[in-house]
Amino acid sequence: MDKMWAGRFSKALDKTADDFNSSIHTDCRMYRQDIKGSMAHASMLAAQKIIADDDCELILSGLEGILRDIDSGLLKIDMDCEDIHMFVEAELTKRIGEAGKRLHTARSRNDQVALDIRMYLRDESAQIISLIKSLISALLKQAEENENSVMPGYTHLQRAQPVTFAHHLLAYINMLMRDIGRIEDAVRRMNLSPLGCCALAGTTYGIDRDMTAKALGFDGITANSIDGVSDRDFCVELMSAFALTMTHLSRFSEEIILWSSWEFKFVELDDAFTTGSSIMPQKKNSDMAELVRGKTGRVYGNLMAALTMLKGLPLAYNKDMQEDKEAVFDSIDTLKKCLEVTAPMAETMKTLPDNMYKAAQGGFINATDLADYLTKKGMPFRSAYKTVGQIVALCIEKGCVLDDLPLETYKQFGDLFESDLYDEISLENCVSKRISKGGTGFSSVREQIKAVKEFLK
Ligand code: ARG
Repeated sequence: MDKMWAGRFSKALDKTADDFNSSIHTDCRMYRQDIKGSMAHASMLAAQKIIADDDCELILSGLEGILRDIDSGLLKIDMDCEDIHMFVEAELTKRIGEAGKRLHTARSRNDQVALDIRMYLRDESAQIISLIKSLISALLKQAEENENSVMPGYTHLQRAQPVTFAHHLLAYINMLMRDIGRIEDAVRRMNLSPLGCCALAGTTYGIDRDMTAKALGFDGITANSIDGVSDRDFCVELMSAFALTMTHLSRFSEEIILWSSWEFKFVELDDAFTTGSSIMPQKKNSDMAELVRGKTGRVYGNLMAALTMLKGLPLAYNKDMQEDKEAVFDSIDTLKKCLEVTAPMAETMKTLPDNMYKAAQGGFINATDLADYLTKKGMPFRSAYKTVGQIVALCIEKGCVLDDLPLETYKQFGDLFESDLYDEISLENCVSKRISKGGTGFSSVREQIKAVKEFLK
């Protein structure tokens, strides 16, 4: 097929160069956005008397037919075309003749691609947000079922203080809620139409950019035509929000993997979300969680690729920018797949609160509460902290826990110890008394659950 620009050239493009230059394998997925954008552009051209109404009608029905035929599988996208924009225009002209050649008036592929990708990312972002919400719902369900499941909270992966499993899950839920906020925020900034920026300088035709922006669901237009076709900061912003979401999924996956191990056994994943081994008959592996953790790297890589691609580019459009799509599409596909598998995996996992409780009974996770016990009786916290440290050392020597040490032994460390200390350091009390806002206390966790439900509404 002759290139659109064949008039200026005396030779056809080298085959290897042609393949190298082509982006249709990647950008074909934007066909819907490309066609919708062209329809809005044609209607605007007619409204502004730049093309005739008859031509516009032909263009609109031609484009509608193309959309319908691609959707139904009747029309195959020709992978020999350079990109999706060229394909749609060529197909239109094939179908309606001369009128098709008028579509690209007062437009360039530079504003066209900037438009398509914004529309595409807007649609995908909405889907990603709804997938994150599904994951939040799955975690919330587990949290509600485990409001009373006491487990060790960790710092440095050392048992630290008792928390509830619900409280722990709510931490992830809050991270995911911020992820949604970041995506929404990026979309808000992105949602300005670049259509009408043309190649870079605007146009001499009397176009109406606000009309196309409105028709395509944008909040307004990009204010500077050079900027409108030059930047891909919105891709970077979204990829960065996606990378952070992957960070959260990856940390959650890591914990799922730990919790599923015999060493922890706080949860058991459903058979439908685990795999066996080809040699070891006893194995039940958390492959899904491991893959989510593993795939996080490529989403980070895509972000770095986009940032690096942009950093040296003179204004305005450069072909380097075609690389934005492979990166951002891969981040989208990866994140969506990870969310799609994590939500049902989390929803169906069985929690084992008895094991959590047993783990919480070891490791002196009520030591802070014992120090607080002395502090509330008047001892300065630092002194209490030191005394309890000595008691812990003694317990380690004796091979027991704080709850097992007789009162007489406690008395050797100070007069403030009374028999009420045992109640004070019971796991239930350590949890239920942490009613500070956001804390692990049962009532505080119920407040947090309420807030998430409000968010999901
Ligand atoms: N396939 C190109 C891209 O994705 C479309 C824009 C091409 N513009 C140009 N002046 N060569 O960036």
